[in-house]
Amino acid sequence: MTLTEKDKEIIQKTWALVRVDSIQAGIELFRRFFEANPDYVKVFPFDDLEDLEEILKSSSLKMHAGRVMTALSSIVDNINDPIIFQENLQKIISSHVERKIELKQFENLKMALVRLLIDKLGDDIMNDEAKEAWSKAYDIILDTYQKSKENFQSS
Ligand code: HEM
Repeated sequence: MTLTEKDKEIIQKTWALVRVDSIQAGIELFRRFFEANPDYVKVFPFDDLEDLEEILKSSSLKMHAGRVMTALSSIVDNINDPIIFQENLQKIISSHVERKIELKQFENLKMALVRLLIDKLGDDIMNDEAKEAWSKAYDIILDTYQKSKENFQSS
């Protein structure tokens, strides 16, 4: 699975529009993620916060949303540099494999991310070509995740 030059350009241009308000976009990403997968809240250290609105306002979620957006930004920024791209990806993947985050959970974040991009940018910008570019890029993350998980389990 490889990204074309056009895919990379689309990903960088669309991400530039979303990252302008990075923390807010991160919170919106997690809103979609937790609404579709309420059980995943338990994976995070939100202590006794149970209500989604409370969680979304908490400093803990804001900090996490910020970190996720920064990590995604550095993956997107280095999309043309295969070595740094892989290094960034591996860092994220190793820490999540160690936390025993399932592939399915990563897959479900893809849906929330694509949904966020469509909701924020609209169907004209997030047309079929843009959706396909993001889908391919995220599938590289999933593919690398699956391989790392298999290696981790067999080591
Ligand atoms: C592309 C997808 C993702 C990115 C870029 C990402 C990024 C990050 C980053 C940068 C951190 C903090 C630094 C670290 O420990 O590595 C983190 C922590 C964490 N992530 Fe992710 N993550 C992603 C997907 C997920 C998914 C799917 C889950 C589970 C449903 C998850 C659960 C967690 C948890 C539980 C922590 C620790 C939170 C804390 O202790 O405050 N992440 N993630």
